[in-house]
Amino acid sequence: MDFTLKPVFLLTIVLLYVAINVNAVRTKDKMYENIDASKACFRRLNATHQIGCTSKRGGSTGVIHYCRSQSDLDFILKNGTAPPYVPVIPTNLFTTSNVNRLKQSSKISGVLLYAGDENPDYFTHEQQCPNPESSLKGTCKASNVWNPHGTGLLYQDIPFPVFFVESEETIKFAKECFDKYNNHSFSTQRDRSLCSLQLTSFMYAATNSSTCIRRSNMITNLNPVKFCDPLGDNNAWASLFPLVRGPNLTEPIRDVGYIVVAARMDATSMFDKTEGAISPVTGLVALLATAKYLKTILPTDENFTKNVLFVVFNGETYDYIGSQRFVYELLKGNFPTKSKEFLPEIRMDDIDLFIELSQLNKTETVVAHYLSGTKLKDFLLKLRTNKGDLSFDEAEDSLPPASVHTFLKNRTNLPSLVLADHRGPFLNPFYNSVYDNASNLHYKYLNLTKDDISQSDNIQTHVQKVATMLAKSLYLEITAKSYQGPEDVADLQFIDELFHCYLENANCRVHQAIQKLELNTQPISLYIGVEVAPNFITTLIGLTLGWVTGDVTGPGNRNCTNEPKNYALRYYNMSRSLDDLNTTMCYRITMNFTEAVSPAFIIDGYDWSSGQYSTWTESIWGDIKLRVFLKPSAAHENMTIAVGSMVFILALLLVYFVKSRAHILFAPQLPTLAPTSC
Ligand SMILES: *[C@@H]1O[C@H](CO)[C@@H](O)[C@H](O)[C@H]1NC(C)=O
Ligand SMILES: *[C@@H]1O[C@H](CO)[C@@H](O)[C@H](O)[C@H]1NC(C)=O
Ligand SMILES: *[C@@H]1O[C@H](CO)[C@@H](O)[C@H](O)[C@H]1NC(C)=O
Ligand SMILES: *[C@@H]1O[C@H](CO)[C@@H](O)[C@H](O)[C@H]1NC(C)=O
Ligand SMILES: *[C@@H]1O[C@H](CO)[C@@H](O)[C@H](O)[C@H]1NC(C)=O
Ligand SMILES: *[C@@H]1O[C@H](CO)[C@@H](O)[C@H](O)[C@H]1NC(C)=O
Ligand SMILES: *[C@@H]1O[C@H](CO)[C@@H](O)[C@H](O)[C@H]1NC(C)=O
Ligand SMILES: *[C@@H]1O[C@H](CO)[C@@H](O)[C@H](O)[C@H]1NC(C)=O
Ligand SMILES: *[C@@H]1O[C@H](CO)[C@@H](O)[C@H](O)[C@H]1NC(C)=O
Ligand SMILES: *[C@@H]1O[C@H](CO)[C@@H](O)[C@H](O)[C@H]1NC(C)=O
Ligand SMILES: *[C@@H]1O[C@H](CO)[C@@H](O)[C@H](O)[C@H]1NC(C)=O
Ligand SMILES: *[C@@H]1O[C@H](CO)[C@@H](O)[C@H](O)[C@H]1NC(C)=O
Repeated sequence: MDFTLKPVFLLTIVLLYVAINVNAVRTKDKMYENIDASKACFRRLNATHQIGCTSKRGGSTGVIHYCRSQSDLDFILKNGTAPPYVPVIPTNLFTTSNVNRLKQSSKISGVLLYAGDENPDYFTHEQQCPNPESSLKGTCKASNVWNPHGTGLLYQDIPFPVFFVESEETIKFAKECFDKYNNHSFSTQRDRSLCSLQLTSFMYAATNSSTCIRRSNMITNLNPVKFCDPLGDNNAWASLFPLVRGPNLTEPIRDVGYIVVAARMDATSMFDKTEGAISPVTGLVALLATAKYLKTILPTDENFTKNVLFVVFNGETYDYIGSQRFVYELLKGNFPTKSKEFLPEIRMDDIDLFIELSQLNKTETVVAHYLSGTKLKDFLLKLRTNKGDLSFDEAEDSLPPASVHTFLKNRTNLPSLVLADHRGPFLNPFYNSVYDNASNLHYKYLNLTKDDISQSDNIQTHVQKVATMLAKSLYLEITAKSYQGPEDVADLQFIDELFHCYLENANCRVHQAIQKLELNTQPISLYIGVEVAPNFITTLIGLTLGWVTGDVTGPGNRNCTNEPKNYALRYYNMSRSLDDLNTTMCYRITMNFTEAVSPAFIIDGYDWSSGQYSTWTESIWGDIKLRVFLKPSAAHENMTIAVGSMVFILALLLVYFVKSRAHILFAPQLPTLAPTSC
């Protein structure tokens, strides 16, 4: 039996080696460092294209190359010897030309972005003409684009994962690891263990929205698999005066003209985080401040023939999702609700004037953009009359990207204007990016009390002036008289608090006043998200709008509810004022939400190639994960493979040997004999 011993001995040695090796791998496993606080770029689809980024299914891995400058990146693209690489680059190197080179290079498996020492001069991955397919034709000329620094990278299909890391510690960790293992003798990198990254952000959806929705709807088994969801959330609207009257508030008020004051509430960025300070927060705050001030100065008991509808649209970044749906319902006679029992139907033709508040950073001049041929002379004059010490200008035949495009598509002569801080191109160099935050606006929280007045010239006082101008002009439009009362300007404290809510701390005084929940202290992202997961910020914005346009009916208590049901109104317990959060009053408000989901997803048999409505969907994904680990050298890997193969072959031999000697190794099984009864 001597000849059997040798292979067994050899096998033992090999197994021992493997055991040691496995041990080594375990040690390496410990080198895996999960990193959080990173934001990934993800995939979206429209009717015809896929955009955004994805990793491989189990994650994409690559050797870290920490770059400070363009030459570091060039070096690795030209002379890297141990691909694939994951360059770690500052945001100012994330340019169209670099992304194109990274896409073409076969050496790149992912990109990690970090905020450099200084903010870049500009950083906007929106297109130069935002919403090119859904805006009115001819409103964005190639010679004079709205977003001149726009790279359009947000709309590119990038075949590798891109992560943005905010945490400085994480970047420091990656840098130190790079310096220790990778940053020397580059020509022999292949032969060493290298510090590497694993980026996991696998996207399940592909091709285009119609394909993806069709695949998601296929009922192949009891558990349908979803690949993508339509982008969507809610719009919020409120009316200045009630839409009903009568002792029981059940008689709809008809024959009233409406002035729509609109703003958008969403922003986007390549990475899942958006505060959107200049766009949309300045416009949104101006709208809320206008609503509050107008409510304060207008008598409520008169029967005016004009009402104001404040509407905040959602999803406007993605081909005007919110306004498209709003107009769709308006034209079908479904606004404010389908049931016409209590509320008057409001039609497109009932809108007399449309005013949209766009980007409004503090600038010398506020500019009214409008298309010629719409009857606006009167209202522009009113704005001029009420501008106070603001400087006001007009840009005729000019219309920046705005929700009003959707309205003008159906009613070409709708008197409409967009108030903005720019005459030509956007002044905001960070439009739809992570850098459009409080510092872009130079915003500092003043933490005012009711009667404080700010001495200095800041964004708060600027928005106050815009809101005052607009509200006084609307007052004149509605009452045909100039406002002469005591409240001379819009509420500065409210404006200051709103900026604080949206840009710094969601658990702010306004949000405490309108609902009694504790919120997280971070600002809430203004990205629209998907239809199936409604955003709480939308509810908060709607309630804020309701709070400032509502009427107090008495002290707040349990009787302040929506029973008996009246579809025109809601009753809410809300604080009396920002300085008196603990006193609750009962508010009767005319506010509601309407769906902001593109009509494309509700129309049966929608023609996806028609381009009529927004078709954006967002891919489903699993984990978003980032890990640092030591990747063994190529030699080590080869060794592992060699050993593995050897083990495999030996195992085969062993099995063969055991099988062929089975009759010797195992005693032959005797047939069991039936017990005999002898
Ligand atoms: C979506 O992709 C599918 C598959 O490639 C293609 O057949 C279809 O025409 C595309 N749809 C549109 C609207 O382009
Ligand atoms: C890459 O290597 C070549 C020769 O090996 C050298 O001439 C060139 O300067 C290197 N490029 C960079 C960017 O270092
Ligand atoms: C879909 O998005 C791509 C990339 O931005 C664009 O080129 C294309 O025109 C869009 N398709 C539609 C139908 O809007
Ligand atoms: C990599 O090494 C070079 C040369 O030694 C050094 O200048 C550079 O700072 C190092 N990079 C990092 C990220 O430490
Ligand atoms: C108001 O409601 C009361 C009780 O529901 C009812 O008796 C009365 O007729 C209603 N009045 C009007 C004008 O509808
Ligand atoms: C408004 O109309 C209601 C009902 O038609 C009427 O009772 C009320 O007196 C009017 N108010 C004013 C100020 O005209
Ligand atoms: C506006 O919508 C209505 C109702 O859908 C339609 O009849 C009309 O032709 C549209 N107008 C324009 C200019 O598209
Ligand atoms: C916003 O306004 C402030 C104050 O005028 C100015 O310093 C800042 O540069 C502006 N930001 C942009 C993006 O225009
Ligand atoms: C605002 O002022 C109040 C009262 O003066 C103070 O308690 C609070 O801490 C201040 N908030 C901030 C964020 O400074
Ligand atoms: C609520 O309404 C009922 C019936 O009108 C009344 O009896 C009760 O006192 C009210 N409760 C409060 C807290 O006002
Ligand atoms: C709000 O809108 C929803 C959906 O259209 C509707 O069911 C509800 O009755 C409305 N509520 C009010 C108070 O208008
Ligand atoms: C308001 O209520 C909170 C919690 O009930 C309490 O801590 C706080 O002291 C109250 N503030 C005032 C001014 O009464």
